[in-house]
Amino acid sequence: MVELACQHCNYKWDYQGENEYYATCPRCRYKVRIPEDKVPRVGRKKLSLESKKKTLTEKRPVKLRGIAAIVNKVVQEAQYDKGMLIQILLKLQRSFGWLPKEMLTEISKQLEIPLSQVYQVATFYKAFSLAPRGRHLIRVCMGTSCKVRGSHTILERVQNHLSIDKDGTTLDGKFSLETVNCVGCCALGPVMTVDDDYHGNLKLPDVDRILSKYR
Ligand code: FES
Repeated sequence: MVELACQHCNYKWDYQGENEYYATCPRCRYKVRIPEDKVPRVGRKKLSLESKKKTLTEKRPVKLRGIAAIVNKVVQEAQYDKGMLIQILLKLQRSFGWLPKEMLTEISKQLEIPLSQVYQVATFYKAFSLAPRGRHLIRVCMGTSCKVRGSHTILERVQNHLSIDKDGTTLDGKFSLETVNCVGCCALGPVMTVDDDYHGNLKLPDVDRILSKYR
């Protein structure tokens, strides 16, 4: 029991509660701050070693699950370095084949960078895809060197063979088609790549033969 005085109406009373910070004035209901030296004994108990340990355990970070855990593994490997954003995206793209929206949101949260920045990078480079891709990725080069050697007819042949549009994926999920501006072997044009394989000096019949290999 401690004697308190209301700082609002000056009313004095014997406080018997256990709150260690505030007491309510019985007359005007003003919240009276309890002075340090008058804190009720029961209120500010010293934490025992056991309860200290318990508090520390309770404050352990929550275990991440699902996409958050997957992203966290990669972000941890990159030591939460914001400058490693492209490498992080590449690693996740390689593992999953595409980058779902939830994944980009997690990266933004865990790296503590704006989501718009993550999107900027993920949409700028052709290496990243924000939609599911087929098992095999076909890239037809439409750069100048390949174009003058007939790459548009190669592209048409691929589209007809697979019955898909440019930037489309076959219904069975086996192939996705993209166009690129140069794959770095202009002398071999027209060129197309399937996954990591390069196919140059293409003639129309080659397209059917190559694609049937990946069926
Ligand atoms: S333009 Fe096609 S490989 Fe360079």
